[in-house]
Amino acid sequence: MDAQVKRRVFLLLVSCIWVPMAVLGGTENVTVSSLSRPKVVKFGALFTVNSVIGSSVMPAILAAVDDVNADSTVLSGTKLDVITQDTNCSGFIGTIDALQLMEKEVVVAVGPQSSGIAHVISHVVNELRVPLLSFATDPTLSSLQYQYFLRTVTNDYFQMYAIADLVDYYGWKEVIAIFVDDDNGRNGISVLGDALAKKRAKISYKAAFSPGATMSDIDDLLVSVNLMEARVYIVHVNPDTGLSFFSKAKKLGMMSSGYVWIATDWLPSVLDSSDSNKDTMDVLQGVVALRHHTPDSDKKKTFASRWKNLKSIQTSRFNSYALYAYDTVWLVARALDLFFKNGGNVTFSDDPSLRDTNGSALKLSSLRVFDQGQKLLQILVGMNFTGLTGQIQFDPQKDLIHPAYDVLNVVGTGLRTIGYWSNYSGLSVITPEVLYTKPANTSTSNQHLYNAIWPGETIKRPRGWVFPNNGKPLRIAIPFRVTFEEFVKKDKGPAGVKGYCIDVFEAAIDLLAYPVPHVYILYGDGKRNPSFNSIVNDVAQNKYDAAVGDIAITTNRTRIVDFTQPYMESGLVVVAPVKETKSSPWAFFKPFTIQMWGVTGVFFLFVGSVIWILEHRMNPEFRGPPRKQLITVFWFSFSTMFFAHRENTLSTLGRCVLIFWLFVVLIINSSYTASLTSILTVQKLSSGIAGIDSLISSPDPIGVQDGSFAYNYLIDELHVPKSRLRIIKSEAEYVSALQQGPKGGGVAAIVDELPYVELFLSNSKCIFRTVGQEFTKSGWGFVSISFCFCYDELTVRHKTIFMTYK
Ligand code: GLY
Repeated sequence: MDAQVKRRVFLLLVSCIWVPMAVLGGTENVTVSSLSRPKVVKFGALFTVNSVIGSSVMPAILAAVDDVNADSTVLSGTKLDVITQDTNCSGFIGTIDALQLMEKEVVVAVGPQSSGIAHVISHVVNELRVPLLSFATDPTLSSLQYQYFLRTVTNDYFQMYAIADLVDYYGWKEVIAIFVDDDNGRNGISVLGDALAKKRAKISYKAAFSPGATMSDIDDLLVSVNLMEARVYIVHVNPDTGLSFFSKAKKLGMMSSGYVWIATDWLPSVLDSSDSNKDTMDVLQGVVALRHHTPDSDKKKTFASRWKNLKSIQTSRFNSYALYAYDTVWLVARALDLFFKNGGNVTFSDDPSLRDTNGSALKLSSLRVFDQGQKLLQILVGMNFTGLTGQIQFDPQKDLIHPAYDVLNVVGTGLRTIGYWSNYSGLSVITPEVLYTKPANTSTSNQHLYNAIWPGETIKRPRGWVFPNNGKPLRIAIPFRVTFEEFVKKDKGPAGVKGYCIDVFEAAIDLLAYPVPHVYILYGDGKRNPSFNSIVNDVAQNKYDAAVGDIAITTNRTRIVDFTQPYMESGLVVVAPVKETKSSPWAFFKPFTIQMWGVTGVFFLFVGSVIWILEHRMNPEFRGPPRKQLITVFWFSFSTMFFAHRENTLSTLGRCVLIFWLFVVLIINSSYTASLTSILTVQKLSSGIAGIDSLISSPDPIGVQDGSFAYNYLIDELHVPKSRLRIIKSEAEYVSALQQGPKGGGVAAIVDELPYVELFLSNSKCIFRTVGQEFTKSGWGFVSISFCFCYDELTVRHKTIFMTYK
């Protein structure tokens, strides 16, 4: 035998002796041979079998295991075995069950569906290095904290952003969140709050009920939320308790017109996995719900047609969790296949930190660490294949890529798809798969859904709010004015206030189709005008629900509150005193100075003489005795002033001179007429201030009405020194300050808003007038932190920023 043949015989002998020894357990800590693929590889499945999710998941897992074992292309030579453990509904029992499963040395755990149990088990799998492929959707279950936690359904984080997009799409600003106060409910709703804040909306009330809440607790909760203003309810509860919740709502009349119910994926999970019952569907009419979106495919159809023949089915239909469960088992199988191909071994070792202490009956030492769990985890995270739910691939946060939901509406006896939500393009009537092939577009104009049919069988979008039925009217702040009380003032009538602004507001709310209970609260002490900025700040801080009055819409104010559309044009102007000049009988001399009169006269004579020189030889009208000729020259010269000369000019040169001269006379006449008109009609500004620019550049004091934003505007925007500003506290002071002028201790001019100035000028017998242009453009509006009480008819929801200060 040559050397190579000898070597082969030696290797054969060694393997004949070594392999059986290894299989017979020659090495205590090695479960399965480390040199070849194991015959059987076990994974665990943790579910509450008798639950909406569990009853769909369990048959799907068993079907997937059978399919894997029947497929020779994956895990060839190794049987995939599942050890199932029912977690029941209890968090404690579920946790113990999960520990028992871990004791069985599984390489992967699939489940649990409960976020509470998932939180506890995640600590255990971290320690034992067993990847946990979970269906728990709580957004706080993060793979950063729990390294071995890998979610194989869509994270609820995305579901909450989908709901925020829906709320924004329909233009609602406040919602009430109803949820079970467990990890899943609480943490999901917390993300919803963040998502709504990004859309300038909010959760106005968080209505939590305990996991074991009785029907009477739910009844109390529904009664309390029914008294509130918001009519948009987001229901994020467990599939196993949710339907009874809606029955209660129906009994309380809360499934009728005006109410909006948005349910998270729990509702489609219930409806998809049970045969629709007419009574159930009657209760749910008009509810909008989200369901995990899974693309239509032949694989999915085949699975659906197989369902009734699957092992251990409890329901004749299944929900989306069944599809995710099926894909999860395939994910495990494919990952294990790669793991073994890459030389992975299934071995477990003792964890020195899990010692049995002081005779404790808890046999912690029976929990052993999966030596190559980290390696298997890396492979799982890197998998990429197409399953029943679409592409199975994880993003860097270890969330499934392409999160998407179907937007459903309960209509008649079924669920109608009114659109889709995807993280990629927001709300659309086009399926996410098609959208992924196009550029992402989440712009508002690209958001579309088909019409929903809302509770009360209407397609009219519900307003989403009502006036709270709790006897609390809107608290409306009214500036307690001292000057210009025509706009708003205290009154002895039932309203307590009256004035132009109140009339406008009352007229506007009279147009609404519903009552607006409100109470006016005077703001200020009645001795001085209140600071309008303070009114706006107090509304922003929720001390009042709104403010009605002559409140200017300024850029700074729109940053903290919402304004209605302006109901009155406004803007800052300068008011200055004017001097009336008495017309004198000699006023007609004033347009020209003496020199001007003299020069003009000399020119007339000069032109008359030139024409005489050019004409008298040939023109008989310029001939005759010298005296007559002299008179003709004078007469001709001055009659051109009125274009009244009667002598003909015959010479060409004479005509040229005359035409040029007549043009000069036209200019002299026009200037004289204009100047004389102005002297006789126009009053003179006594201060010399001609507008805001000359006012700023002068050193004189400037008056500003008490409480007005103009004070800050002059300082902050026009950089007028504070020392130049004088606050005008009454209308009498308005007059006296202007009359006294800067030299008499008054002001050179007052800067104020046009409506006040117009009123002041119409009432004032004294001579004042606006000078220059309005130098800001603005308006007066009503203020609220959020115009929830008159979205539709009175206001715009966007900020009314149209100030042109700069
Ligand atoms: N109209 C006074 C202010 O808004 O400041």
